[in-house]
Amino acid sequence: MDTPSSRTLLLTGPAHEEACGLAVVEVLERDIAGPIENAVWEADEDYNCNAYICRGYQFEDNNDNVQVVKAGDVLYFHVNLVAGHHPGYANVSVVDTATNAVIGSPLRSWDNWPNHLSGPPRDDIDYNITIPASLPSTCSEAGNCVIQFYWYASGNEQTYESCHDFYVEA
Ligand SMILES: *[C@@H]1O[C@H](CO)[C@@H](O)[C@H](O)[C@H]1NC(C)=O
Ligand SMILES: *[C@@H]1O[C@H](CO)[C@@H](O)[C@H](O)[C@H]1NC(C)=O
Repeated sequence: MDTPSSRTLLLTGPAHEEACGLAVVEVLERDIAGPIENAVWEADEDYNCNAYICRGYQFEDNNDNVQVVKAGDVLYFHVNLVAGHHPGYANVSVVDTATNAVIGSPLRSWDNWPNHLSGPPRDDIDYNITIPASLPSTCSEAGNCVIQFYWYASGNEQTYESCHDFYVEA
């Protein structure tokens, strides 16, 4: 996700390295569009994160980049599709970063992603989401909730993720 800014765009930072270990971080950074699985295979004894939450990228490394939102706000997203030859499905959800649980229903979901037939303009890589009214109060504190783009390439069993930090204005 390159619009709005996402954790993964900023590349790694000390909190990510501390949580996931250098072996995993090195693989993630070598290919910013690479699947999470490639990194997790390299996990060593310093791996203490869940790379399936925001690719292991930590809020502490991205806390200058938090968007303040309110219910009903429409946010535009652009996904930089680097490797489009991995068919699968995708969704965009608010995720609780403490539990990796999806909050509510997905904001967007695609049974077939990527879908080059969806445009122009391409609905799969250029889309809007609306901030739901029903988010829990935990999302009023930065770092607790993210808008996560999740793509699972079913054929080659690869997971791609990107996370946008936000909090809901009280
Ligand atoms: C994405 O969709 C799949 C299939 O419907 C579902 O299993 C998964 O929980 C969803 N993930 C997110 C993060 O919304
Ligand atoms: C997103 O919403 C804005 C404002 O409503 C609109 O101008 C724009 O065309 C929408 N973009 C997409 C890709 O739906």
